[in-house]
Amino acid sequence: MERVEQQEPVAGSKGDAIRPPLDIQAHSEQKDYETIGTPFVTDPKMTARNVNVYYGDKQAITTISLDIGRNEVIAMIGPSGCGKSTFLRTLNRMNDIIPICRVEGEFCLDGDDIYADDQDTVLLRARVGMVFQKPNPFPKSIYENVAYGPKIHGLAHSKAELDEIVEDSLRRASLFNEVKDQLDKPGTGLSGGQQQRLCIARAIAVSPEVILMDEPCSALDPIATARIEELIDELKENYTIAIVTHSMQQAARVSQRTAYFHMGKLIEVGDTKQIFTMPKHELTENYITGRFG
Ligand SMILES: Nc1ncnc2c1ncn2[C@@H]1O[C@H](COP(=O)(O)OP(=O)(O)O)[C@@H](O)[C@H]1O
Ligand SMILES: [Mg+2]
Repeated sequence: MERVEQQEPVAGSKGDAIRPPLDIQAHSEQKDYETIGTPFVTDPKMTARNVNVYYGDKQAITTISLDIGRNEVIAMIGPSGCGKSTFLRTLNRMNDIIPICRVEGEFCLDGDDIYADDQDTVLLRARVGMVFQKPNPFPKSIYENVAYGPKIHGLAHSKAELDEIVEDSLRRASLFNEVKDQLDKPGTGLSGGQQQRLCIARAIAVSPEVILMDEPCSALDPIATARIEELIDELKENYTIAIVTHSMQQAARVSQRTAYFHMGKLIEVGDTKQIFTMPKHELTENYITGRFG
């Protein structure tokens, strides 16, 4: 799909004390637009090109192209309903399970087409794991929650190996010390923050390359949130992480790059510091200064 006209960056009019409220709807009509900033990186782990997503007749994502850099944390921000979750789900084909959802575009993981006809989606979702808004441990023991993936993917050849994967995953998710004496207790009995770290351990257990997180802290208290944020910082050494967050503070704290979505479009993407201190697009500026959201 061709992108036709380049839209001029709108200079941020910093310093204006009072400005009229922005008409968000007015921006929904432009079908052709160009993302401002740096959607492409030199060492991408994943690439998405010319992505359109529809739910029935309704278009939820319009012509988005974006790279996810290797071992980076990229934050995806924007007003509710702008398509953050929809876009995130295209990266491991979670939209496949929504019958009315149709995805167009090209998506690669290390150069491989993840929408190829012969792509095994179970394997793909192990390589590109996902952590959801609400912690969703299986109704099984803590141990079994983490062991489940390695078992179905045949990653362990003995009980000892499986034990090792479980312990290592729980350690990486900085949960092991808290649960080591209760591995046979139900995962659902843990606190919300612990459950979310258990879900992260479960994702890690199958050795993913990318972890997608969709507002992983929105159901957690500030202390549990801080733990997850610390964890994200540690995880980026070994994994590539794309995180959707409605918290701009969180985006600023955990990410190196930030992508600003607006009504299904990727308006601007760039270095996190730049996005939060010197946004180039008026819509980005309006969002980060709290004029809508
Ligand atoms: N399962 C679905 N069926 C129909 N429409 C959906 C579905 N999921 C999301 N949408 C619509 O797609 C648009 C983008 O939603 P979403 O990706 O959830 O946005 P965000 O995560 O930024 O809040 C919204 O208009 C939403 O109503
Ligand atoms: Mg969402």
